[in-house]
Amino acid sequence: MENNILQVKDLKKYFGKTKAVDEISFNLNKGEIIFLTGPNGAGKTTTIKCILGLLRKTNGEIFIKGESIKNKEIRSKLAYIPESPDVYPMLTVWEHLKFMALAYRINNWEEYGEKILQSFNLLDKKNEVGKNLSKGMKQKLSICCSLVHKPDIFFIDEPMIGLDPQAIKELKNILKMLKDQGKTLLISTHILDSAEGLCDSIIIMKKGKIIEQGSIKELREKLNADDCVTVEDMFLEVTSGE
Ligand SMILES: Nc1ncnc2c1ncn2[C@@H]1O[C@H](COP(=O)(O)OP(=O)(O)OP(=O)(O)O)[C@@H](O)[C@H]1O
Ligand SMILES: [Mg+2]
Repeated sequence: MENNILQVKDLKKYFGKTKAVDEISFNLNKGEIIFLTGPNGAGKTTTIKCILGLLRKTNGEIFIKGESIKNKEIRSKLAYIPESPDVYPMLTVWEHLKFMALAYRINNWEEYGEKILQSFNLLDKKNEVGKNLSKGMKQKLSICCSLVHKPDIFFIDEPMIGLDPQAIKELKNILKMLKDQGKTLLISTHILDSAEGLCDSIIIMKKGKIIEQGSIKELREKLNADDCVTVEDMFLEVTSGE
C-alpha cells in the first residue's frame, strides 16, 4: 500500500526461553498515531527496540518505505524517545540540540533549533542545564532532541507516565502537531483514556502476540460495544482470561 511507511514481518525475539515477541506482523501508515498497548511484559518495549535495532531480533524482517531497515540511511529516518528520557545533567538545553546536530552531522540547524524550542515552550530554558529541568521538561527536551535530524517515524515508549495533567495535555498537543506535519508515531502506553480523539489505530499485545489491532471504531464493532464503552474497558475485555 502506498501509504504504508513501516512494515514488520514475523518479528520474533526470544530471551532464552522467554518469547518476548512471538512472530508478530503489522503495518503502520504514514501520518498516523498508533497506540501500542498490552499488559506489563507483553513485549511492547522489546518490539520497539527490535525495530530500532537496539536489540538483535531472533527472526523477522522490517521495512521502511519498502526498504530493509538494514540500510543505515533508512534508519536515520527513525526517532526513539525512551521510557525514562535521559538528559545530560551538565549540558544545557541548547547544548543537547547541538550534540544531536553534531551526531547527525547537520549544519545550519540553529534557526530550526530555536523554532523547535519555541514550539515546545522551552526557549526560556535554553541555557538551563539538564539536571535543573522538571520531568515534563526533560520529556519535552527528549522530543526536541529527536526532532533535530527531521525523522519521519517516532517510537515513543510510555511518554505519559509521571506527567501532570497539564504536561499530558501539552504532550498530546505536541503529538498532534507532529501528526499534522505528516509524521508517523508509534506510542507504547497504558494510558488509554487519551486514545480517543488522538490515535488512529491501536495494537494490543499480550504474551508476545498481537491479540487485536485496528481503529477504535473497528474495535467497538468487533466487540459489539456501543460508543459509551471506553477504550480501557475494551482493553480489559480483550486482555482478560488466558
Ligand atoms: N533484556 C532482557 N532479558 C531477558 N528478558 C527480557 C529482557 N527484556 C525484556 N525481557 C522479557 O521480555 C518480556 C517482554 O518485556 P517488555 O519489556 O518488552 O514488555 P512491555 O510490554 O514493554 O512491558 P511494560 O508494560 O511493563 O513496559 C518480559 O517477559 C520481560 O521479562
Ligand atoms: Mg515497556
